Amino acid sequence: MTGTRVVFVQGDITRQSVDAIVNAANSSLLGGGGVDGAIHRRGGPAILAECRALRASRYGKGLPTGQAVATTAGELDARWVIHTVGPVWSAAEDRTALLTSCYRESLRVADELGARTLAFPAVSAGVYRWPMDDAARVAVETVRNTPTAVEEVRFVLFDDRAYGAFAREAGR
Ligand code: AR6
Repeated sequence: MTGTRVVFVQGDITRQSVDAIVNAANSSLLGGGGVDGAIHRRGGPAILAECRALRASRYGKGLPTGQAVATTAGELDARWVIHTVGPVWSAAEDRTALLTSCYRESLRVADELGARTLAFPAVSAGVYRWPMDDAARVAVETVRNTPTAVEEVRFVLFDDRAYGAFAREAGR
């Protein structure tokens, strides 16, 4: 347990007034569907410009799965977007450590930035097909067990199903 407050809301992560929001990106950092598409659409071109610069410098081969990196949040209320790449669900291989790493690394980057409030989506639980109940378990357990100076972690769940899974997990 850490001193971090963990809260759960149903809604759109691009509308949150927090210091940083986490993007469920892909390795290319150049956009996609789901949360990623919504963040780039509402945040405007400044985010993509920084992503392109990261690809041209630190991440020539793309951001590896389980890692996280920050950019501006452009026109969003948040100051920063922390991009992380979740693992694609596999029934044949346990990739939980990579999903755990997404939350840990995002918190580490948030600490480096000095962010005090941070919003997460359900990383990997959409296009990457991670089963929602297990995605919620990994997310909540990891955030509860990772030491950080972030004061509030807000899970922003897009629909009833995701909200229900996270709320059940929160009650454990
Ligand atoms: N706010 C909060 N949650 C959202 C929003 C939103 N605006 N939009 C969708 N979700 P996904 P992934 C939920 O697919 O599984 C992209 O193409 C969604 O309902 O966004 O990690 C990337 O470029 C689901 O519960 O992320 C990658 O290629 C959760 O966010 C790939 O998808 C995550 O779904 C990443 O897939």
